[in-house]
Amino acid sequence: MFKDLLIVKPVAPAPHVDAGEPVEGSLRGEANLKRVLTARHLVLLGIGAIIGAGIFVMTGQAAANHAGPAIMLSFVLAGLACAFAGLCYAEFAAMIPVSGSAYSYTYATLGEAVAWFVGWSLVLEYLFAASAVAVGWSAYTISLLENLAGMAGMDWTFPAWLASAPFTYTNGEFVMTGALFNLPAVLIIAAVGTLCYVGMQQSATANAIIVAIKMVVILALIGFGMQYVNADNWVPFIPENQGGDRFGIEGVLRGASIVFFAYIGFDAVSTAAQEAKNPQRDMPIGILGSLVVCTLLYIAVAAVLTGMVPYTDLGTAKPVATALEPYADLAWLKLAVEVGAVAGLSSVILVMLMGQPRIFFAMSRDGLMPKFLGKAHPRFGTPHKATVVVAIVAALLAAFFPLGVLGDLVSMGTLLAFATVCIGVMVLRRTRPDLARPFKVPLAPVVGTLGALSCLALVFFMGWYNWVLLAAWTVVGFTIYFGYGYRHSLLRQGR
Ligand code: ALA
Repeated sequence: MFKDLLIVKPVAPAPHVDAGEPVEGSLRGEANLKRVLTARHLVLLGIGAIIGAGIFVMTGQAAANHAGPAIMLSFVLAGLACAFAGLCYAEFAAMIPVSGSAYSYTYATLGEAVAWFVGWSLVLEYLFAASAVAVGWSAYTISLLENLAGMAGMDWTFPAWLASAPFTYTNGEFVMTGALFNLPAVLIIAAVGTLCYVGMQQSATANAIIVAIKMVVILALIGFGMQYVNADNWVPFIPENQGGDRFGIEGVLRGASIVFFAYIGFDAVSTAAQEAKNPQRDMPIGILGSLVVCTLLYIAVAAVLTGMVPYTDLGTAKPVATALEPYADLAWLKLAVEVGAVAGLSSVILVMLMGQPRIFFAMSRDGLMPKFLGKAHPRFGTPHKATVVVAIVAALLAAFFPLGVLGDLVSMGTLLAFATVCIGVMVLRRTRPDLARPFKVPLAPVVGTLGALSCLALVFFMGWYNWVLLAAWTVVGFTIYFGYGYRHSLLRQGR
């Protein structure tokens, strides 16, 4: 039985592909999409998926409660872990350009049970991220609507009982908010889910427009905000530890584990591998290019936010807007930031809600998930049933859970997938040295080991309550695997 669990899906070298041609024969049943995306599209896709609630929402809590101005350092540390993982993703995505991402890579290297575990962890990444980002979207949209109403001379506020989850989790305690559920978060998931259902392709052009808005807003924030930075706000750079993970080095590390969320998405580029014109060359450019751009922007934004106001003020649901509040002459920028955040978060939700059904789709086609999740809509050509399931679950989570709880779970799932990919690269170098590797991780054993260790270290700093949740998630996952996937696996049935 143990041997059964480690069964590996054979992988053949990916042939050279031309624009518009589907790639055949890399992993069974994976080839059916048109190759239309260029390197520029892929970088923009990555930025579209990366910049979202992490920078617009979570940075504030992480700075206010854990790292202080050293949140900049937290961004550097989380960025390093991502750089290692990004290099490993780049090697896989160029070598096995299919849409299943880490799930497919793991199936080809570490066997079925680990692949299941990674696929199940990716649910935390994509599905939970859609919910978490929808909660951030809700806060920014409410603020934007209230601002616009104010500008129109109306005294209107969004009903608080429909504006958030019924509870929140801060400093180790559950606190009731008095709200019933988060209505705007449910509405955005319903809207984006409907688009995904009817085959709304996130066209490269639409994504490029949203990315342009995000980038302009962020660059404006850095450019104008910089002029209002008071360097005294950066002192002390690392506030003294107040126990646990509140400040000090522990706080910086906990901060890194929180802002890691901001980097999630570069790996989503790899799910577009089947649609890249020249994946062998462009996948590494897309993955690593978007990661480098976002890392630089994040460190700059963190410096500006903590320089503009004392870090203690930033623990709000919309810290970027909060940092601009004291500066009356930047009121226009506050409005622009809110528009940029609403647009930017929408594209993250879209990419996540498109990614999750694809992973289920790939798992279903391998027999590990029920068949209906692998069905495509006869007219729209989308995994419509998987999309409906994903949207309903994501909407329920967004309605009833606060951002902090969801965000940590997303990061945990993603970190585990990243660590596995780092290990997978090293394993495949040994088991299949013959495969053509258009992009090779330099010093693979060093980068792979550092990548796996740094990702696992970030999991460690998530705190015990998150480990318990993750353990429970894993137990549920393996119960489903042994109850269903193990018995239906097409590979094990020799099909
Ligand atoms: N990196 C994405 C965000 O920050 C998930 O919203």
